[in-house]
Amino acid sequence: MKKAFITGITGQDGMYLADLLLSKGYEVHGLRRRTSLLNTQRIDKYFADSATYSHKFYLHYGDLTDSSNLTRLIQEIQPDEIYNLAAMSHVHISFSMPEYTANCDGIGTLRILEAVRLLGLTKTTKIYQASTSELYGLVQEVPQTEKTPFYPRSPYAVAKMYAYWITVNYREAYNMFACNGILFNHESPYRGENFVTRKITREVARMAYNLADCLHLGNLNSKRDWGHAKDYVDAMWRILQQDKPEDYVISTGVTTSIRDFVIKTFALLDVELAFEGTHENETAVVVKNNGKYAFKAGQVVVKVHPKFYRPTEVDLLIGDSSKARQKLGWQPKYNLDALIKEMIDADLKLFNK
Ligand code: NAP
Ligand code: GDD
Repeated sequence: MKKAFITGITGQDGMYLADLLLSKGYEVHGLRRRTSLLNTQRIDKYFADSATYSHKFYLHYGDLTDSSNLTRLIQEIQPDEIYNLAAMSHVHISFSMPEYTANCDGIGTLRILEAVRLLGLTKTTKIYQASTSELYGLVQEVPQTEKTPFYPRSPYAVAKMYAYWITVNYREAYNMFACNGILFNHESPYRGENFVTRKITREVARMAYNLADCLHLGNLNSKRDWGHAKDYVDAMWRILQQDKPEDYVISTGVTTSIRDFVIKTFALLDVELAFEGTHENETAVVVKNNGKYAFKAGQVVVKVHPKFYRPTEVDLLIGDSSKARQKLGWQPKYNLDALIKEMIDADLKLFNK
């Protein structure tokens, strides 16, 4: 039985990756932080399953900012594979806490690599680093590939750039099996509520049941290459099953604006919208409600609020994942419409109480 250690197991990707590895027969160890209220909602299903909890699925307290704790855990677990998914992952919030973001997202990766090296596990433990399309920032090439130069545009992306290169450096310096997955945005019903896709599906569902009046968003023009987290954790696993450690772009190759994501979400509820005005004065108004939910013609359902603007924005992301498709045999099963449908259905269910 292979052993995996997942940092960030309480997050969106951690949950999907734990599901995948358990289904493949792995023993899964996860890092959880101490919190004043429990925050294990995404993985609670494993606590309830006595055949899994403490038999194939283990949680350990710790933090990416605590080297001694990470080193001790890696020594105890002796993992075959480490998936370093833990991060302060919100780009906008990283402008408010840049130092912590650098410590967790940048130096945190170094702590893992150093622990593996100092414990003499370089030949036995493979490492996956959760790198990101945010590295491309002010994009230098369209679409972005493994060879596109980076131009990070946030404290988050700058911290992740350190993590990317320290992973490459440890691979080259110490012959470690350490790889970067440069993943483009991926979403799901389990996405954190303050990322834009989930914020949209959640608030639209609340409006559908008269629990909210209007959705307040920032920049509607930026474009993202959105995939489903379930597809993307499969790519993480495949990256560590190769003969040679390498870095891979994981993306769908389709890009969509925030505005079009909103239109698609409402369309799934049979509601037609019209966008009016520009910049801070832009709004979306219901033109026609052909569906069963509580939207009225003329209702303003989206307003722009500058507090959601970022000091520096990433305007356009679109990935070319040809390398992953050829070498890993990976391709996404979900398209954007199927992803949005799954998300809005889940949020409608959540608020239909
Ligand atoms: P997420 O839902 O925000 O989860 C982040 C995880 O990291 C949570 O389990 C969180 O724990 C944990 N964490 C945060 N700070 C920590 C610390 N100091 N010590 C230990 N754990 C800590 O993020 P995600 O969407 O699953 O993304 C997973 C990884 O992929 C992240 O590194 C992210 O930057 C990267 N990434 C994500 C995407 C995407 O579109 N989702 C794309 C590219 C790269 P708590 O639950 O306690 O907060
Ligand atoms: N969060 C948020 N909230 N974003 C908004 C809003 C809003 O109200 N209104 C517009 N946006 C725009 C942002 O300005 C950005 O251009 C886009 O929506 C996407 O924002 P997020 O969903 O917060 O994701 P992100 O692209 O900044 O970062 C995510 O993807 C990265 C991969 O490219 C995160 O998951 C990162 O951790 C990940 O690395």
